[in-house]
Amino acid sequence: MPKDPETDAHPRGPRHVAIIMDGNGRWAEAKGRPRLFGHHAGARRVREVVEACPALGVKYLTIFAFSTENWKRTQTEVAGLMSLFRRYIAKETRALATRNVRVRFIGDRVRLDQKLTDLMDRMEQETAVNDGVNLTIALNYGGRDEVARATRRLAQDVADGLLDPAAVDEETLPKYLDTHVLPDPDLVIRTSGEARISNFLLWQSAYAEYEFIDTLWPDFTAEELGRLCANYGSRDRRFGAVKTGAAKT
Ligand code: FPP
Repeated sequence: MPKDPETDAHPRGPRHVAIIMDGNGRWAEAKGRPRLFGHHAGARRVREVVEACPALGVKYLTIFAFSTENWKRTQTEVAGLMSLFRRYIAKETRALATRNVRVRFIGDRVRLDQKLTDLMDRMEQETAVNDGVNLTIALNYGGRDEVARATRRLAQDVADGLLDPAAVDEETLPKYLDTHVLPDPDLVIRTSGEARISNFLLWQSAYAEYEFIDTLWPDFTAEELGRLCANYGSRDRRFGAVKTGAAKT
C-alpha cells in the first residue's frame, strides 16, 4: 500500500505503538563499558523516536522504562537508573512541552522517591495542554501489578456500593487500569532479540501485533520504526473474526 507522500505515514499504520526498550546492557558490555552507559545511550534514542511519530501517524507511544521486576538488579544499576530518570525528566520537560508532546506515566509510584515523583508530576502538568503525540512512560510498571491494583480499586467500589458485581464485564476493568485514557496498543515492539512480553501491557495487548527485532535499543532508529509501521500496515488484523467473504479455517 502506498505511503502518504506528505507525511510518510502508512494509511493503515499503527495509531498506538508500545516499545520494550531492551538491550542497553549488552550494547554497553559489547563496547567494554558499564551497563549504565548503555542506559544513557538508550535514553538519548527516546527523543528521536518520539519526534518520528507525527510523520508516521503514530498518535500514542508507550515505552517501558522500568519494570516492577527491575528492582532485582544490583543496587548500583537501580540507583543509576533512578538518577537517569530524574535527570532525563528534568532536562526533557521543556523540550517535550514545546514539541506538543503530552507525557503521562503509568506504574506504581509508591516505591519511587519523592524527588522523582515530583518531577513526574511536573512533566505531566507542563505537557497537559498538548495535543500532539501522547508519550506514556511506564516506570515501576508491571502488567500483573497493574491488574491487581485495578482489581483492588474495583473491589473497593463494590464494597462501597458504587458498583454492581453483576455489571462487571470487559469494559469495566480497563476503566481501573493505569492506561484508562489510552487506546489499546496496535503494535508492540521489543528490541534485542528476546521474544517475551515481560509483564508489559498484558490486558491491553490482547490483540496487538508484535515485532521482535534483533536491534539493541541504543541502535534503534526512526527509520526502523518507519519500517515496522509499514509492516504493520500490510498485516491483516482480524480480532478473532473472519475476514468478510473469506472461508473460515
Ligand atoms: C533494558 O535493557 C532496559 C532497561 C531496564 C531500562 C530502559 C531505560 C532506558 C531505555 C533509558 C531511559 C528511558 C527513559 C524514558 C529516560 P537491559 O538493561 O535489560 O539490557 P540487557 O538485556 O542487554 O541487559
